[in-house]
Amino acid sequence: MVQDSAKREARAIDAAREKVVITGAAGAIGSALRQGMAERFRNLLLTDLRVPADAAAGEDWVAADIADRPALDGIMQGAAAVIHLAGAASSDLETLWRVNARGMFDVFEAAQVAGVRRIVFASSNHAHGSQPIGFPVSPDHLARPDGHYGAMKAYGELILRSYFDRYGIRSVSLRIGTYRPLPIDQRSLATWLSPADMVQLAERSLLHADPGALVVNAYSNNTHLKVARTYWDFLGYAPVDNAEEHREMLRGMGIDVDGDWEYPEHGGNFARDPELPARLISPPGR
Ligand SMILES: NC(=O)c1ccc[n+]([C@@H]2O[C@H](COP(=O)([O-])OP(=O)(O)OC[C@H]3O[C@@H](n4cnc5c(N)ncnc54)[C@H](O)[C@@H]3O)[C@@H](O)[C@H]2O)c1
Repeated sequence: MVQDSAKREARAIDAAREKVVITGAAGAIGSALRQGMAERFRNLLLTDLRVPADAAAGEDWVAADIADRPALDGIMQGAAAVIHLAGAASSDLETLWRVNARGMFDVFEAAQVAGVRRIVFASSNHAHGSQPIGFPVSPDHLARPDGHYGAMKAYGELILRSYFDRYGIRSVSLRIGTYRPLPIDQRSLATWLSPADMVQLAERSLLHADPGALVVNAYSNNTHLKVARTYWDFLGYAPVDNAEEHREMLRGMGIDVDGDWEYPEHGGNFARDPELPARLISPPGR
């Protein structure tokens, strides 16, 4: 039985032996991690709403909704670390509340109760999405979310900060930019995060002996980064990809890659699009 008040040991995850849970493992980032990490991390427990059709032989899967707390409690048994990816992106607000706030809380809390030492969290650049584009962002600045999605990511970062102080759980919150196989638009010349660099970030976040409650910008080594690039050296992250190498590809797609930045804030269109109402007070027509 784990004592909540007991401080946990500051120690790297033993990749050969210790159990690492990945939530949202069927998604885009989860698929890159399960393929990219499997060789080194030998005890991955993968979970998502459904087991994907491309699940590889030998992969260990549990299908579960992160809104199902008893299922989460079972999944976390014996785990040393969790990589929490499950989430909704631009959904209706009720889904965001259920999955990105309550579900996230239950993932963290089930992990905490089960005694994990390390949590890696897929936060987002939308946690600082309202910062003006000319301002180099750093995790040292207060969060400045560009909407409820970003605010819930900042909430996750704060829960993990409190878990470090209360329980000694070490964590790394990754403020992921534009995760894609290749850059997709002008903004991603600054915000792209490649699959190889994402895998490296996840692995470094587990293998660092004592990251405290770290928040890092999660981008590739893009020439046009708009960040104060703090903590990458501390984490041991040395990104290998650069969106600039794909500028011609973007130009060939008819994207204006030479003009001023398209959006005045870091969060791009998220910072400009209207927020959805949480619920209609009364359905239209009644
Ligand atoms: N892709 C990006 O550019 C980007 C940028 C910033 C942050 N992120 C964050 O990274 C995480 C992963 O992103 P992704 O691009 O792989 O997204 P994705 O949509 O491809 O994957 C998310 C996964 O979460 C699962 N999921 C959703 N609701 C669930 C629930 N209730 N219970 C269990 N699983 C559930 C989905 O089935 C899906 O497989 C998300 O939390 C996202 O907010 C992504």
